[in-house]
Amino acid sequence: MATEGVDKDKRRFLTASTAVVGAVGAGFVAVPFVASWSPSERAKTAGAPVEVDISKLQDGQKVTVEWRGKPVWIVKRTPKALEDLKALDDSLRDPASENVQQPEYAQNSSRSIKPEILVLVGICTHLGCSPTYRPELAAADLGADWKGGFFCPCHGSKFDLAGRVYSGVPAPLNLEVPPHFYKSDRVILIGKDGGAA
Ligand code: FES
Repeated sequence: MATEGVDKDKRRFLTASTAVVGAVGAGFVAVPFVASWSPSERAKTAGAPVEVDISKLQDGQKVTVEWRGKPVWIVKRTPKALEDLKALDDSLRDPASENVQQPEYAQNSSRSIKPEILVLVGICTHLGCSPTYRPELAAADLGADWKGGFFCPCHGSKFDLAGRVYSGVPAPLNLEVPPHFYKSDRVILIGKDGGAA
């Protein structure tokens, strides 16, 4: 029955969310610089903005924080990854981000305020699983043309390193860019607009 399918997918999302939050916990111990990501448990539940210190984020690295119960990814893209984005338009469903899946200040070629820093809600726009970060080039299971991005294991949707969805996959929309702004060069506030840095 259709509702069974929905329930199953919901369960799958919950499982995926739990896995991500678990990963955040592990990251918290191993990577002290994300220590400022959470104001408090109560504030988090209420949907308060979340501060993230990105000063030690390395090229290619991704960290995950939780905002309003959702995983939010912050990825530092390399100059090569940014260059590669330019060549993908023909393979993408909405290369210019015309669907409103981002604030106005992120409706650009890198879908970000600062080109190298990508901020995305890590939830697939198909049925809500959490895609996997796959930064490696020409990954064996994703094809020789793969330039790095995100792969959703639930039904095979693929997104590039700007969160733009590939054509011909189940996900209908690009991944969402949450409202955010730079409080300073090293600190992003996720969950609130404040103008570009
Ligand atoms: S939930 Fe179906 S492809 Fe991601």
